[in-house]
Amino acid sequence: MDSKTDDDLTPGQPVTNESIDQLLVLGRQELLKVVDLEELEQWRLRYLGRSGALTIALRGLSSLPVDQRRVIGAAGNTARKSLEELYDSTLNTLQESNSRMHFQRSIDVTMPGRQPSVGRLHPTIQIVREITQAFSSMGFQVVEGPEVEWDKYNFESLNIPQDHPARDMWDTLWVDQQDKDGRFSTLLRTHTSPMQARVMERTEPPIRVLVPGKCYRYEATDPTHEWHFYQIEGLAVDEGINFAHLKGTLYEFARRIFGRDRKIRFRCDYFPFVEPGVDVSVDCFKCDGAGCRVCAESGWIEIMGAGMVHPKVLERVGYDPKKYTGFAFGMGPERIAMLKYGIDDIRHFYTNDLRFLMQF
Ligand code: DAH
Repeated sequence: MDSKTDDDLTPGQPVTNESIDQLLVLGRQELLKVVDLEELEQWRLRYLGRSGALTIALRGLSSLPVDQRRVIGAAGNTARKSLEELYDSTLNTLQESNSRMHFQRSIDVTMPGRQPSVGRLHPTIQIVREITQAFSSMGFQVVEGPEVEWDKYNFESLNIPQDHPARDMWDTLWVDQQDKDGRFSTLLRTHTSPMQARVMERTEPPIRVLVPGKCYRYEATDPTHEWHFYQIEGLAVDEGINFAHLKGTLYEFARRIFGRDRKIRFRCDYFPFVEPGVDVSVDCFKCDGAGCRVCAESGWIEIMGAGMVHPKVLERVGYDPKKYTGFAFGMGPERIAMLKYGIDDIRHFYTNDLRFLMQF
């Protein structure tokens, strides 16, 4: 503040319209020079405070004749209001820029950024993709089928007729709808195998397909059983396909998923839609076959069922079983993920607990 301004504000002079105008102009000019809150407060005291210039000038009103008092009083009040408004807006601006400066000062640009929380694929989908990639690089095409399926595909096309005892292998959730003979003919597919017939019905050999998808069973849950789960089905049909092709394909798959040094074992097993049928195991990737907790001390881990497609299955879709042969396999990707990542309860895949999901 220069001394000239101080002189201008000296009290004691008679108040006039002109002196109020002058104060207003001066006040505005000075306010423009204010750069911080402290200067603003000084300005407020000088103009609007109890011994501020405008306050004192207006106090001089009482010595004026009544008619002048009214006119000059009104001008004085307008001037006060205008200065108060200017004060308020300057205060706002200064406070805002103060907080911005504070914010700027509090940023440490050398700090590492905060990790934004982004979504990711469910572990089941991750392993399904990994498995489908392994097979598609061997020429298998990925197809999908319906989860609500006809008995005809889920059982009959797979050489499991009505009342066949093998139906007990698949505890079935039936859709509550009877056909004209009073039988339940639709169900929630118990496996992905019905897609074998669906694919063969509409395609001529050669066939190489992989079918990932959701399946359902009427089953109590425990650490190794869920009432809904994924399966991945494989089917290859052509002239001259034999068991060696099945072995070679699954051997390559096991090495890709569980590591290059894996051995694979085939043992006889029964599934009505394959002959011969096998269960397939890999040697334990944890203990290299020596025996540990993961493989229940056996050195081997069962990973799927497989076999050569039963001639009856081929016949039903109109293929000549003398000309064409094929192999099929079916596996549970959750089970494979459990083995690969040491997950001890299949139910983790379906409880949507972020503490579990975030690990993948
Ligand atoms: N669908 C069978 C199941 O759910 C698994 C299976 C076994 C599929 C042998 C196959 C196979 O294609 O050849 O238990």
